[in-house]
Amino acid sequence: MKLNVYATPDCAADKDLKDKIVVVIDVLRATSTILAALINGCKEIIPAVEIEEVINMSKNYEKDSFLLCGERNIQGIDGFHLSNSPLEYTAEQVADKTLLLTTTNGTRAIKRAVDAKEVILCSMTNVDAAAEHIAAQQEDTVFICAGTDGQFSMDDVVTAGAVINRLKNKVENPSLGDLAVVAEAMYRANAHDLHTLLKDSLHYKRMMEAGLEEDIRYCLTLNAAPVVGIFRDGVIKIRDKFQN
Ligand code: MLT
Repeated sequence: MKLNVYATPDCAADKDLKDKIVVVIDVLRATSTILAALINGCKEIIPAVEIEEVINMSKNYEKDSFLLCGERNIQGIDGFHLSNSPLEYTAEQVADKTLLLTTTNGTRAIKRAVDAKEVILCSMTNVDAAAEHIAAQQEDTVFICAGTDGQFSMDDVVTAGAVINRLKNKVENPSLGDLAVVAEAMYRANAHDLHTLLKDSLHYKRMMEAGLEEDIRYCLTLNAAPVVGIFRDGVIKIRDKFQN
């Protein structure tokens, strides 16, 4: 079982993803938000790269069956129901609804995983569930970090390290790529205090400046949303809601 980490979606070529288990990570905040919506009972999430795509998709849904969701440059989008704050995705808001979501980096990373054998959504909020699911597959696995504006984002890489740290205890002799080794070592050295590790990172600082401290606290809460989110045929659902 080979484990490889790519710092941004553009670092991975299509051939690196083809027929692999692909784990997409955008801790601050897209995958944390997606997992919060899933555990709070949304029907499904449809990720899109562009705002126009989301608005056009909404025309195919009954008025109260969907929500327009997402952000650009950390801020909510005018006319949308929800931003990209996981704290907004309560059961009262999202239960049984289809969420049409677009974010600056995260949904772009999800849509990058074309030709993957399976696409798993991961954040610090579901590392144990994700590690259990990945270990059970016993397949070569690739971690795609969403990054920030095309740059390396420490929060995503240290989360890949958290999952890899767990896999090392579940899978016999996994073969780690160089960034997988670095990610796991970074997690092991900082698991006790991720905020100190991340407080000077680009996106963490931007979110603090935008007054989103509570979002950061939630997104870095270990196993706050212990579900496995799967992206398949254009739709994200909790693993057990796909008919195999
Ligand atoms: C993203 O997808 O770029 C991030 O989740 C941005 C954010 O919501 O802070």
